[in-house]
Amino acid sequence: MRIAMIGTGYVGLVSGVCFSEFGFDVACVDIDASKIERLNAGEVPIYEPGLDGLIERNLSAGRLSFTTDFDTAVARADVVFVAVGTPSRRGDGEADLTYVYAAARQIAKAMRPGTVVVIKSTVVVGTCRKVAEIIREERPGVDFSVASNPEFLREGSAIEDFMRPDRVVVGAEDERAEAALRRLYRPLYLRETPILVTSLENAELTKYAANAFLAVKITFINEIANLCEKVGGDVQKVASGIGLDNRIGSKFLHAGPGFGGSCFPKDTTALAATGLKHGAPQRLVETTIAVNEERKRQMAERVLAALGPETAGKRVGILGIAFKPNTDDVRDAPSLVIVPALQAAGVTVVAHDPEARGQAEPLLPGLEWRANPYDVADEVDVLAVITEWNTYRGLDLAEIARRMRGHAVVDMRNIWQGSDVVAAGLDYQGIGKTPLSVG
Ligand code: UDX
Repeated sequence: MRIAMIGTGYVGLVSGVCFSEFGFDVACVDIDASKIERLNAGEVPIYEPGLDGLIERNLSAGRLSFTTDFDTAVARADVVFVAVGTPSRRGDGEADLTYVYAAARQIAKAMRPGTVVVIKSTVVVGTCRKVAEIIREERPGVDFSVASNPEFLREGSAIEDFMRPDRVVVGAEDERAEAALRRLYRPLYLRETPILVTSLENAELTKYAANAFLAVKITFINEIANLCEKVGGDVQKVASGIGLDNRIGSKFLHAGPGFGGSCFPKDTTALAATGLKHGAPQRLVETTIAVNEERKRQMAERVLAALGPETAGKRVGILGIAFKPNTDDVRDAPSLVIVPALQAAGVTVVAHDPEARGQAEPLLPGLEWRANPYDVADEVDVLAVITEWNTYRGLDLAEIARRMRGHAVVDMRNIWQGSDVVAAGLDYQGIGKTPLSVG
């Protein structure tokens, strides 16, 4: 089976490369010629553990190729995946489907009869049928199938998530589409991965419902954390206590500075907009969006409070700028709200991140970067952890204390034991627990 993967963003690139690892012939297509050139030279445009090795192996095996030649890739393919971006549309927050529809038109013109067109981009309910209409309009009478196959991989563990998913969701309403997707995911049958085949609408909705549910779960534990702080509780203990209930589950119960990234903010906004449009408001999701936005600002206020009443001229060190560890992605990262809020209060902000500097530098003017996490502590009044990179967990807290001029730590990811930080001579404020002070 030959695959054309339209779009080499996160989802398209990882899925295309993983399908080639399964042994299929994959052509990944993008309009960005310099990106394609770099990919063909084995250079990976995103930081994703393990991806470079897979690209190299499958490129040299001749199963994987990168091209700007859309029409040839589509004309040779049995299955064409659409994995182009669906950003938030300005104004109403619905997903902007311009790129999906443009791809559909071009696919229609270039494809062979019998092609299966699979929408992998996250698209609002009804989009797959619209894509089918567009293709019929462009190529009246031609035989083809449309399917939906949302992707649930996470950045930072994308390869593992693609290769070992909890489930595969397929929206397919004819035998050809179902058979093609079952065949592509056959390597996962060995692991007994459930493959749910359902309608186009159900598949489209499943993706949004899954992401929104997880966003609600995170926001829920963040609000419980606020309550813990007021009444002397410890959110990590409460999260463990509820997470052991199988109906709840222990994952996505880490309280923190609010969710970010390329999916949750965009997908919750799109789902809320879709709900309003169809007269079925998603009030839990609407509230989640508002609470999460406010949470990022509250995090900045927390750091400002730790600086004391006079903030102008003070210095804050930040560990971690990416929206989560193991990625260089800063899209909708809490740091993008927290850093400017501190700067607006006259604070000089110094930061370290193992991977995100390149992405973040243009978005955070005035932020001073350090190549080493210890250097971030030099002469700062407050040290704040925003992203839980593993390498921060084992830092020598006494060394940090020696370098700081102040003595407050705000740990927004609970990566350190409060008692260890206090033993090093610093005040400690985690999330959802009682602050500890030295004196
Ligand atoms: C998410 C979904 O998990 C994935 O299924 C979908 O395909 C794309 O969106 P991703 O954006 O890569 O993946 O990140 P994820 O690991 O889910 O984290 C999202 C955000 O939630 C991050 O900002 C993270 O820090 C935050 N988070 C996650 C928490 O604050 N607490 C948690 O317990 C889990």
